[in-house]
Amino acid sequence: MSEHLTVVDHPLVQHKLTLMRDKGRSTAEFRQLLREITLLLAYEVTREIPLTTRHIETPMEEMDAPILAGKKMALVSILRAGNGMLDGVLELVPSARVGFVGLYRDEETLKPVQYYFKAPEGLKDRLVIAVDPMLATGNSSAAAIDLLKEAGATDIRFLCLLAAPEGVARMKEAHPDVHIVTAALDRELNSKGYIMPGLGDAGDRMFGTK
Ligand code: URA
Repeated sequence: MSEHLTVVDHPLVQHKLTLMRDKGRSTAEFRQLLREITLLLAYEVTREIPLTTRHIETPMEEMDAPILAGKKMALVSILRAGNGMLDGVLELVPSARVGFVGLYRDEETLKPVQYYFKAPEGLKDRLVIAVDPMLATGNSSAAAIDLLKEAGATDIRFLCLLAAPEGVARMKEAHPDVHIVTAALDRELNSKGYIMPGLGDAGDRMFGTK
């Protein structure tokens, strides 16, 4: 655990993650578990958002009660697997605005190329939470964060389900200011860039493709 990385070791998160890793899980079960686990991870990624107080009256007496300071949130899905994490966060923060970043890997240069970008207005005044279940090489995640910064974002967190040490290192080098929250830090990447032991291709498992 460091300032740059939080691994959420809550028993419910760990239990649900084990169910998701199991290759026998159906698409419907995988999607449902992703939604549930994301909600729990969202609780952690929003832990430090600032509070202020509001003067209210309970049925008993008046009080100054804590309430969110009003910094608006933008949730940004890194396509396509990031979409599977939107509902879980939105359940907890229904007023968040939502953006999308689409990148593919150029087979010759191996560099990420942008094919879609749509972000809410006023990114510079928002807490931006970028979501992608798998932080593998970190190349597309780092490129997505580059785009968000170019669009004005200054306060960015990265929420994923599984991270590989290689991806964490890449993100730390490219974006040391971006805190990563994950359910697990796995052992390594294999030669094809898959996280080991991992859970396979998150997009294929949640959308039933392949
Ligand atoms: N993307 C995935 O979906 N799975 C991995 O293991 C790595 C990247």
